[in-house]
Amino acid sequence: MNNKIVSLSLFFSLICLFIACQKESDSNDAQLVTEIREAINLTPTQQLGRVLFYETSLSVSNTVSCGSCHKQENAFADNTRFSVGYNNIESSRNTPTIQNLDSGFERLIFWDGRASMLQDAAIEPIFNHSEMGMREPEFLITVLESLGYYDELFTNAYGNSEITLERIGDSLGKFLRKLQSDNFNIPEHLITQQVLDGANLFHTKYDCSSCHNISNSTGYNVSDEAFGGINTITQHTEFSREDLIKMASSNIGLEVEYEDKGVGALLDDESQNGKFKIPSLNNISLTAPYMHDGRYETLDEVLDHYSDGIKPSPQLDSRLKDWKGDPQVLAINEDEKEDIIAFLNVLKDEDFLTNPDFANPFVKVSE
Ligand code: HEC
Ligand code: HEC
Repeated sequence: MNNKIVSLSLFFSLICLFIACQKESDSNDAQLVTEIREAINLTPTQQLGRVLFYETSLSVSNTVSCGSCHKQENAFADNTRFSVGYNNIESSRNTPTIQNLDSGFERLIFWDGRASMLQDAAIEPIFNHSEMGMREPEFLITVLESLGYYDELFTNAYGNSEITLERIGDSLGKFLRKLQSDNFNIPEHLITQQVLDGANLFHTKYDCSSCHNISNSTGYNVSDEAFGGINTITQHTEFSREDLIKMASSNIGLEVEYEDKGVGALLDDESQNGKFKIPSLNNISLTAPYMHDGRYETLDEVLDHYSDGIKPSPQLDSRLKDWKGDPQVLAINEDEKEDIIAFLNVLKDEDFLTNPDFANPFVKVSE
């Protein structure tokens, strides 16, 4: 009798165990598969570029995509001082926005302006900085081939499913160029008196606009410092690339001596030390922390710098020096700071930040 009970209960426990195992293997079987969201207003090539932009398999560790550091909600920048790549190594500079790479004329790319979009047919400039550890193009291609969904995407874009480095670079480049944003359509109800006062301070009293151009999609003025920085040049074609980099970058006195020498290191020219590209202020409220090294957490801190924090050096931009050649002390008062920040905060393009075509297309669904 006892024996019978034992064996029965053993029988039941085995059944239970069996069922439990069944359940478990069922859930293992219900694998997550990757589905790709369709694009509404992208060409097939741009859609391929978008998928590649969010593809974590582009990194050796399978964890980092371009979109990990360049986030749509932050105008394709992020909110950390230095971003972390595949091997937990931090980038040496703050991640900038990606917007308006296609701006009609040559546009400087990266903090030191070292690349232009004209070069992007070659994949190098895009991949070099990315901290994704992908060094072997052949390996990258093999990885993409092993993922089911690229056959169709490459065929739609290029007529057949062959994966080449040129096609990867071309499609990524076409997606990046599609990321166009402007602040020209500020809703009227946002334009308060305070915003207008801030705009006025920005454009006249403090002359921020001698460097920052907010109605031009590059975001910078190209000016010839030989004329005291007041001569704004609109025709870029007559200048060499090196001249253009010199004219669209500036040393704003963050340091007396910069560790990261920026344009100075790029051009191996001491007179250019501490110069960085004048960044666009479009969507600026979403891209903290600020400056090439993300040293300022808020716009308030940025204004404190311009107000009375500018440091002297031979390379300091003449637009930030007084008549004696000393760093200018703008002494921007608290009310004025608030006005300028109110103005900067409306330079925002909601459509750009929420456009579904620019969002991560990967959805994981169970089969
Ligand atoms: C680990 C973070 C990280 C990843 C991943 C990453 N980036 Fe970047 N990106 C940066 C940083 C940092 C810079 C600034 C580098 C510099 O200026 O020297 C940058 C700059 C850029 C710029 C220049 C923007 C401008 O206007 O100057 C582009 C374009 C860009 N990245 C595209 C990409 C693409 C495409 C990928 C994926 C293949 C990618 N990034 C992956 C951090 C990252
Ligand atoms: C002489 C040219 C020049 C003037 C004048 C100037 N800026 Fe700048 N600004 C720059 C440069 C160059 C940088 C980037 C410097 C760096 O990272 O080393 C910058 C950075 C910034 C940033 C941070 C952008 C980012 O993406 O991190 C803000 C905000 C800003 N400036 C606002 C202002 C305001 C407001 C004024 C007027 C009070 C002003 N600037 C005047 C050249 C200038």
